[in-house]
Amino acid sequence: MKKNNVFELPSLSTALSLLGMASQVESLKADNKKISEQAARTILKALDAKDNYTFGHSMRVAYFSIVTGTEAKLSAEEMFELELSAIFHDIGKIGTPDAVLNKPSRLSEEEFLIMKKHPENSYEILKEFPYFDKVAENARLHHERFDGKGYPLGLKGEEIPTAARIILIADTFDAMTSTRPYRKGLPYEVAFDELTQFSGSQFDPNLVRLFIQGMKKEALKGEEEFFIPLMDKKFNKNAA
Ligand SMILES: [Fe+2]
Repeated sequence: MKKNNVFELPSLSTALSLLGMASQVESLKADNKKISEQAARTILKALDAKDNYTFGHSMRVAYFSIVTGTEAKLSAEEMFELELSAIFHDIGKIGTPDAVLNKPSRLSEEEFLIMKKHPENSYEILKEFPYFDKVAENARLHHERFDGKGYPLGLKGEEIPTAARIILIADTFDAMTSTRPYRKGLPYEVAFDELTQFSGSQFDPNLVRLFIQGMKKEALKGEEEFFIPLMDKKFNKNAA
Protein backbone atom coordinates (compact mmCIF):
# COMPACT_ATOMS: atom_id res chain seq x y z
CA MET A 1 0.00 0.00 0.00
CA LYS A 2 3.02 2.25 -0.36
CA LYS A 3 2.54 5.11 -2.76
CA ASN A 4 4.91 8.06 -3.18
CA ASN A 5 6.60 7.14 0.09
CA VAL A 6 3.36 7.78 1.94
CA PHE A 7 1.46 4.98 3.66
CA GLU A 8 -2.16 4.99 2.68
CA LEU A 9 -4.74 4.37 5.34
CA PRO A 10 -6.69 1.18 4.67
CA SER A 11 -10.12 1.77 3.22
CA LEU A 12 -13.06 1.68 5.60
CA SER A 13 -14.20 -1.69 4.28
CA THR A 14 -10.68 -3.18 4.73
CA ALA A 15 -10.51 -1.78 8.26
CA LEU A 16 -13.93 -3.20 9.08
CA SER A 17 -13.07 -6.63 7.73
CA LEU A 18 -9.78 -6.60 9.70
CA LEU A 19 -11.71 -5.68 12.82
CA GLY A 20 -14.18 -8.44 12.07
CA MET A 21 -11.35 -10.96 11.72
CA ALA A 22 -9.76 -9.77 14.96
CA SER A 23 -13.01 -10.17 16.83
CA GLN A 24 -13.49 -13.63 15.30
CA VAL A 25 -10.02 -14.62 16.53
CA GLU A 26 -10.87 -13.24 19.97
CA SER A 27 -14.13 -15.15 20.15
CA LEU A 28 -12.37 -18.32 18.94
CA LYS A 29 -9.82 -17.85 21.73
CA ALA A 30 -12.61 -17.35 24.26
CA ASP A 31 -14.34 -20.50 22.96
CA ASN A 32 -11.10 -22.48 23.28
CA LYS A 33 -10.62 -21.24 26.83
CA LYS A 34 -14.18 -22.29 27.67
CA ILE A 35 -13.57 -25.74 26.17
CA SER A 36 -10.38 -26.10 28.24
CA GLU A 37 -12.22 -25.11 31.41
CA GLN A 38 -15.08 -27.48 30.66
CA ALA A 39 -12.72 -30.38 29.90
CA ALA A 40 -10.76 -29.76 33.10
CA ARG A 41 -14.03 -29.62 35.09
CA THR A 42 -14.98 -33.00 33.61
CA ILE A 43 -11.70 -34.53 34.77
CA LEU A 44 -12.31 -32.99 38.18
CA LYS A 45 -15.71 -34.71 38.27
CA ALA A 46 -14.01 -38.02 37.49
CA LEU A 47 -11.62 -37.36 40.38
CA ASP A 48 -14.64 -36.61 42.57
CA ALA A 49 -16.08 -40.03 41.73
CA LYS A 50 -12.78 -41.64 42.74
CA ASP A 51 -12.20 -39.56 45.86
CA ASN A 52 -15.00 -37.23 46.90
CA TYR A 53 -12.87 -35.44 49.47
CA THR A 54 -10.64 -33.88 46.79
CA PHE A 55 -13.49 -32.08 45.00
CA GLY A 56 -14.68 -30.19 48.09
CA HIS A 57 -11.05 -29.62 49.05
CA SER A 58 -10.34 -28.07 45.64
CA MET A 59 -13.31 -25.69 45.99
CA ARG A 60 -12.22 -24.58 49.47
CA VAL A 61 -8.63 -24.13 48.27
CA ALA A 62 -10.00 -21.93 45.48
CA TYR A 63 -11.99 -19.90 48.03
CA PHE A 64 -9.01 -19.43 50.38
CA SER A 65 -6.84 -18.52 47.37
CA ILE A 66 -9.35 -15.93 46.15
CA VAL A 67 -9.45 -14.40 49.65
CA THR A 68 -5.64 -14.13 49.66
CA GLY A 69 -5.40 -12.87 46.08
CA THR A 70 -7.96 -10.17 46.84
CA GLU A 71 -5.94 -8.99 49.85
CA ALA A 72 -2.78 -9.04 47.70
CA LYS A 73 -4.63 -6.83 45.17
CA LEU A 74 -3.89 -9.10 42.23
CA SER A 75 -5.13 -7.95 38.82
CA ALA A 76 -8.33 -9.42 37.34
CA GLU A 77 -6.24 -11.56 35.00
CA GLU A 78 -4.03 -12.83 37.84
CA MET A 79 -7.12 -13.58 39.94
CA PHE A 80 -8.65 -15.63 37.13
CA GLU A 81 -5.42 -17.61 36.67
CA LEU A 82 -5.20 -18.13 40.45
CA GLU A 83 -8.78 -19.38 40.64
CA LEU A 84 -8.27 -21.85 37.79
CA SER A 85 -4.96 -23.04 39.23
CA ALA A 86 -6.47 -23.56 42.68
CA ILE A 87 -9.50 -25.45 41.36
CA PHE A 88 -7.35 -27.83 39.32
CA HIS A 89 -4.18 -28.03 41.46
CA ASP A 90 -4.81 -31.61 42.62
CA ILE A 91 -6.24 -32.95 39.34
CA GLY A 92 -3.19 -35.22 39.04
CA LYS A 93 -4.50 -37.23 42.00
CA ILE A 94 -6.66 -39.00 39.43
CA GLY A 95 -3.46 -40.99 38.73
CA THR A 96 -2.74 -41.75 42.40
CA PRO A 97 -3.75 -45.31 43.42
CA ASP A 98 -6.86 -45.44 45.66
CA ALA A 99 -4.99 -47.39 48.31
CA VAL A 100 -2.60 -44.45 48.73
CA LEU A 101 -5.09 -41.63 48.14
CA ASN A 102 -7.70 -42.88 50.60
CA LYS A 103 -5.41 -44.49 53.17
CA PRO A 104 -6.76 -43.48 56.59
CA SER A 105 -3.44 -43.96 58.36
CA ARG A 106 0.05 -42.58 57.90
CA LEU A 107 1.65 -43.23 54.51
CA SER A 108 4.76 -45.41 54.31
CA GLU A 109 7.86 -43.90 52.75
CA GLU A 110 7.14 -45.68 49.48
CA GLU A 111 3.49 -44.54 49.47
CA PHE A 112 4.57 -40.99 50.22
CA LEU A 113 6.85 -41.07 47.17
CA ILE A 114 3.86 -42.13 45.03
CA MET A 115 1.71 -39.36 46.58
CA LYS A 116 4.43 -36.80 45.84
CA LYS A 117 4.03 -37.42 42.12
CA HIS A 118 0.60 -35.76 41.96
CA PRO A 119 1.82 -32.17 41.21
CA GLU A 120 3.74 -33.46 38.18
CA ASN A 121 0.68 -35.50 37.16
CA SER A 122 -1.46 -32.36 37.44
CA TYR A 123 1.04 -30.54 35.23
CA GLU A 124 1.04 -33.31 32.61
CA ILE A 125 -2.77 -33.26 32.38
CA LEU A 126 -3.26 -29.48 32.44
CA LYS A 127 -0.52 -28.59 29.98
CA GLU A 128 -2.47 -30.40 27.25
CA PHE A 129 -5.22 -27.76 27.37
CA PRO A 130 -4.93 -24.60 25.27
CA TYR A 131 -4.27 -21.47 27.38
CA PHE A 132 -3.53 -23.49 30.51
CA ASP A 133 0.28 -23.05 30.49
CA LYS A 134 0.40 -20.97 33.67
CA VAL A 135 -2.34 -23.00 35.34
CA ALA A 136 -0.32 -26.19 34.64
CA GLU A 137 2.86 -24.59 36.00
CA ASN A 138 1.13 -23.37 39.17
CA ALA A 139 -0.34 -26.83 39.80
CA ARG A 140 3.09 -28.36 39.31
CA LEU A 141 4.64 -26.00 41.86
CA HIS A 142 2.01 -26.01 44.62
CA HIS A 143 4.22 -28.10 46.94
CA GLU A 144 7.32 -25.94 46.58
CA ARG A 145 8.35 -24.35 49.90
CA PHE A 146 9.49 -20.78 50.48
CA ASP A 147 12.84 -22.05 51.87
CA GLY A 148 13.49 -24.22 48.81
CA LYS A 149 12.89 -27.54 50.60
CA GLY A 150 9.70 -28.41 48.73
CA TYR A 151 9.10 -30.55 45.65
CA PRO A 152 9.26 -31.32 42.73
CA LEU A 153 11.91 -28.72 41.75
CA GLY A 154 13.09 -27.25 45.07
CA LEU A 155 12.43 -23.66 43.93
CA LYS A 156 12.87 -20.91 46.51
CA GLY A 157 11.07 -17.66 47.49
CA GLU A 158 9.97 -15.58 44.54
CA GLU A 159 11.20 -18.19 42.07
CA ILE A 160 7.89 -19.85 42.92
CA PRO A 161 4.97 -18.11 41.14
CA THR A 162 2.72 -16.08 43.47
CA ALA A 163 -0.30 -18.26 42.65
CA ALA A 164 1.58 -21.45 43.63
CA ARG A 165 2.74 -19.80 46.89
CA ILE A 166 -0.87 -18.83 47.67
CA ILE A 167 -2.22 -22.30 46.83
CA LEU A 168 0.27 -23.96 49.22
CA ILE A 169 -1.07 -21.81 52.09
CA ALA A 170 -4.71 -22.45 51.11
CA ASP A 171 -4.04 -26.18 50.64
CA THR A 172 -2.29 -26.60 53.99
CA PHE A 173 -4.95 -24.56 55.79
CA ASP A 174 -7.72 -26.76 54.38
CA ALA A 175 -5.81 -29.95 55.21
CA MET A 176 -5.50 -28.74 58.82
CA THR A 177 -9.07 -27.51 59.27
CA SER A 178 -11.11 -30.16 57.45
CA THR A 179 -12.49 -33.12 59.35
CA ARG A 180 -11.58 -36.55 57.96
CA PRO A 181 -12.90 -39.97 59.01
CA TYR A 182 -9.75 -40.47 61.07
CA ARG A 183 -9.36 -37.03 62.68
CA LYS A 184 -11.20 -33.85 63.54
CA GLY A 185 -10.27 -30.60 61.83
CA LEU A 186 -8.46 -27.90 63.79
CA PRO A 187 -10.25 -24.62 64.65
CA TYR A 188 -9.30 -21.76 62.31
CA GLU A 189 -7.42 -19.82 65.03
CA VAL A 190 -5.15 -22.79 65.77
CA ALA A 191 -4.47 -23.28 62.05
CA PHE A 192 -3.65 -19.54 61.68
CA ASP A 193 -1.02 -19.96 64.42
CA GLU A 194 0.43 -22.99 62.65
CA LEU A 195 0.73 -21.07 59.37
CA THR A 196 2.39 -18.17 61.19
CA GLN A 197 4.82 -20.53 62.88
CA PHE A 198 5.95 -21.88 59.51
CA SER A 199 6.07 -18.46 57.83
CA GLY A 200 9.41 -17.91 56.15
CA SER A 201 10.27 -21.62 56.13
CA GLN A 202 7.35 -23.37 54.47
CA PHE A 203 5.28 -20.33 53.51
CA ASP A 204 5.71 -16.81 52.13
CA PRO A 205 5.32 -14.67 55.30
CA ASN A 206 3.66 -11.77 53.52
CA LEU A 207 1.06 -14.02 51.88
CA VAL A 208 0.33 -15.78 55.20
CA ARG A 209 -0.30 -12.36 56.76
CA LEU A 210 -2.63 -11.38 53.90
CA PHE A 211 -4.45 -14.72 54.06
CA ILE A 212 -5.16 -14.39 57.79
CA GLN A 213 -6.17 -10.75 57.35
CA GLY A 214 -8.59 -11.73 54.54
CA MET A 215 -10.03 -14.67 56.48
CA LYS A 216 -10.75 -12.45 59.48
CA LYS A 217 -12.67 -10.07 57.21
CA GLU A 218 -14.56 -13.07 55.79
CA ALA A 219 -15.51 -14.23 59.30
CA LEU A 220 -17.09 -10.84 59.99
CA LYS A 221 -19.48 -11.39 57.07
CA GLY A 222 -20.94 -14.39 58.92
CA GLU A 223 -21.75 -16.29 55.72
CA GLU A 224 -22.07 -20.07 55.67
CA GLU A 225 -21.30 -20.44 51.98
CA PHE A 226 -18.74 -19.17 49.56
CA PHE A 227 -19.05 -18.58 45.81
CA ILE A 228 -16.66 -19.91 43.18
CA PRO A 229 -17.19 -17.86 39.99
CA LEU A 230 -15.76 -20.46 37.61
CA MET A 231 -18.10 -23.17 38.89
CA ASP A 232 -20.92 -20.60 39.08
CA LYS A 233 -21.89 -22.22 42.34
CA LYS A 234 -21.96 -21.73 46.09
CA PHE A 235 -20.36 -24.24 48.46
CA ASN A 236 -20.67 -24.79 52.17
CA LYS A 237 -17.75 -23.52 54.24
CA ASN A 238 -18.10 -26.41 56.63
CA ALA A 239 -15.39 -28.88 55.60
CA ALA A 240 -16.75 -32.28 56.56
FE1 LIG B 1 -1.40 -31.22 46.49
